[in-house]
Parts: sequence; structure tokens; C-alpha cells
Amino acid sequence: MTAPVLEARRIDSDTYRVVMRHLPTGVAAICSTDPVAGTQNGMIVGTFASLSMEPALVTFSVMHSSTSWPRIAEAGQFSISLLAEDQQQVCRALSAKGEDKLGDVAWSESAWGTPHIHGSLAWFDCRIEQQFTAGDHVVVIASVLDMTPAEGASAPLIFHGGRFGSFRENA
Ligand SMILES: Cc1cc2nc3c(=O)[nH]c(=O)nc-3n(C[C@H](O)[C@H](O)[C@H](O)COP(=O)(O)O)c2cc1C
Repeated sequence: MTAPVLEARRIDSDTYRVVMRHLPTGVAAICSTDPVAGTQNGMIVGTFASLSMEPALVTFSVMHSSTSWPRIAEAGQFSISLLAEDQQQVCRALSAKGEDKLGDVAWSESAWGTPHIHGSLAWFDCRIEQQFTAGDHVVVIASVLDMTPAEGASAPLIFHGGRFGSFRENA
């Protein structure tokens, strides 16, 4: 049997959003410290994912319109703080446009000189390996210089259907 010849449907951005909102994601804060000014830059991504164990690589994608990512990337090294269910306020602060997003956020400097946000589930220190354009985003592939889980179990912040929630185990 031969496969039917179909023409790809043109997917507009509204359709894409309506369908993709069914996909739950974790919430990760990407941060770095400007090596010259000493100031912090940060943004939130829902596209953070594990990519490779040997070597340890992670990935996320960034909109072309992001003003924070070029500044984060310029530092060379950056951190990823995996947000916990009670860190919605951190998410709000870092996903807003503006300067000094970490001003009201508790964080400390890692051995790599990157900001680690207090109360997160885990921290990664990373270096960019590859960046390439894919549609309206830049795909970032980063090597993991170090990774640390928080002590004690905690639940992740989850973004789904335009809302925030937390993980619930099935009975
Ligand atoms: C839950 C959530 C997930 C997001 N995921 C992404 C993402 O994967 N990539 C991206 O570029 N922006 C993402 N954003 C938007 C950015 O965090 C942020 O709003 C934007 O980068 C701020 O603008 P700026 O980069 O100009 O500072 C997300 C925002 C939220 C609240």
C-alpha cells in the first residue's frame, strides 16, 4: 500500500499554542553574573531538558526576542536553578522584562561565579557548547560543569495550560 500524499497543514501560532499548552513542563531559571559590571542577568525557560549523560549535556531554547539571553551568554558560564513548587514568585521576577531581576531573589554565588537561587531543587553550572537557530528560537546545547541536588525531597514547579502547579502522585 502506498502512503497518501498529503500537503503539510500550515500551522499558525494560535494553533501551535492551543495544542502545546497540553504539554506540562518544569520551570528553570537561567542566570549569570556579568564579569565586568558584576550584575546578575536571568530568565525563565520551560524548554530545559536533559540531553546526554556521557558527556553531560543539557538543552533549552530561547526566543530571538529575548534581551536577557545575549547578556547571560556573554558571561561564558551560567547557572540553571530548577524551581520548586513554592518558587512561583521567583519565576514571576525572572520572566518579567527589566533590569536587576534577581534584586529581590535570595541567591548565592557558586564556585563557578554563577548565581544559585536559594530554595531550588537542583543547580547546574554550564558552559555553552552549541547554539543554532531553529525557527523563531535559538537552541542552546550546554555542557554541565557541575550539578548539585538540594538536600531533602521537594516537588517541582510545573507549568501547564498557562497555569502553575505541582506534581501529584497517582494513588
Ligand atoms: C513558564 C515560563 C516558561 C518560559 N519558557 C521560555 C523558554 O523556554 N524560552 C524563552 O525564550 N522564554 C521563555 N519564557 C519567557 C522568558 O522567561 C522571559 O519572559 C523573557 O525572556 C523575558 O524577556 P527578556 O529575555 O527580554 O528579559 C518563559 C516564561 C515562563 C513564565
